[in-house]
Amino acid sequence: MCSQPGGGVIPVTASARLQSYIPGMATPDKRSRSLWLQGPAVPCETVPPGAHLPWRIVLLGAPGVGKGTQADLLNQRLNACHLSTGDVFRAAGGRSDSEQSPAMKEALGYMRRGELVPDSIVWDLVRERSQCLHCVGGFILDGFPRTVAQAVSLKQLMDKDGLGLTAVVNYELPLEEIVARLGGRRTCEICKTVYHVTERPPRVADQCDRCEGKLFQREDDRPESIKVRLETYERNTAPLIDFYAKLGLLVRVPATGTPDEICERSLPELEYRRSKQFAHLMWAAEENRRDT
Ligand code: AP5
Repeated sequence: MCSQPGGGVIPVTASARLQSYIPGMATPDKRSRSLWLQGPAVPCETVPPGAHLPWRIVLLGAPGVGKGTQADLLNQRLNACHLSTGDVFRAAGGRSDSEQSPAMKEALGYMRRGELVPDSIVWDLVRERSQCLHCVGGFILDGFPRTVAQAVSLKQLMDKDGLGLTAVVNYELPLEEIVARLGGRRTCEICKTVYHVTERPPRVADQCDRCEGKLFQREDDRPESIKVRLETYERNTAPLIDFYAKLGLLVRVPATGTPDEICERSLPELEYRRSKQFAHLMWAAEENRRDT
């Protein structure tokens, strides 16, 4: 079972999951951001183990390249939960002062300036939600990891628990298009759906198509923060491209064209990676069976 925007749950059967791998076939509209945003106290019921091989995907790319938009589309196509560390920080920013821990207040200061939140704070946040990484429904990580130290911590955690990543997608786009995307972005304050004033406008101005929530412009989308974010990305996050290429997990996807075109471009490679991962697991299980 997986959560919906309002906090409810929908059943996800093995057959529903298999449907999601067939191109063009309709899939249940599943978004599990609410559980991830609220943190570890919120239980998530999961599909039965063994029903399928979960998609475990990391999205990389500069701020504004379209990771959140693609995560949303991949969530609809693959049914894996969209987990964004930036969303967790923004959700915390919307709470009252007394509800924010000192670490979260510190994190929000970094975020407003466009700087990275220190690894220790980010890792605490991810670790306390690590159940989401174990979910047999899979996950799409958006905005994490963002430094080599974070990637190493994630790898150690996943290796320890025998979890493998399916793929790491790196979206690539010229700088001027990135800046234009950031400048026109609007986000729904309730369900976090992302729009763009000219490229992906809502049907009614300033109102979310999905939940009628009000749209807002992110604080860190001001020009001075954008500059800092792009410099920070080059310095701290771009090295992850090499890190994951060396692990044989990197999928490079040009992020030009419409969101749907980009998503369609990425799917065949993701399917290929997943079938390779599946074949490897079958082989390892067979070896194991022979040895015992
Ligand atoms: P985070 O929320 O992760 O932001 P980000 O990585 O900077 O990425 P964005 O959300 O800005 O962009 P996106 O690539 O998702 O693009 P989107 O789909 O919205 O992080 C924010 C902050 O939190 C960080 O700066 C940091 O302080 C902190 N933080 C978070 N995680 C951290 C971590 N792990 N470690 C340390 N600090 C952390 O698209 C952008 C716009 O373009 C939208 O308007 C969209 O509609 C439009 N668009 C998308 N696709 C297309 C298209 N194909 N054509 C035209 N327009 C498009």
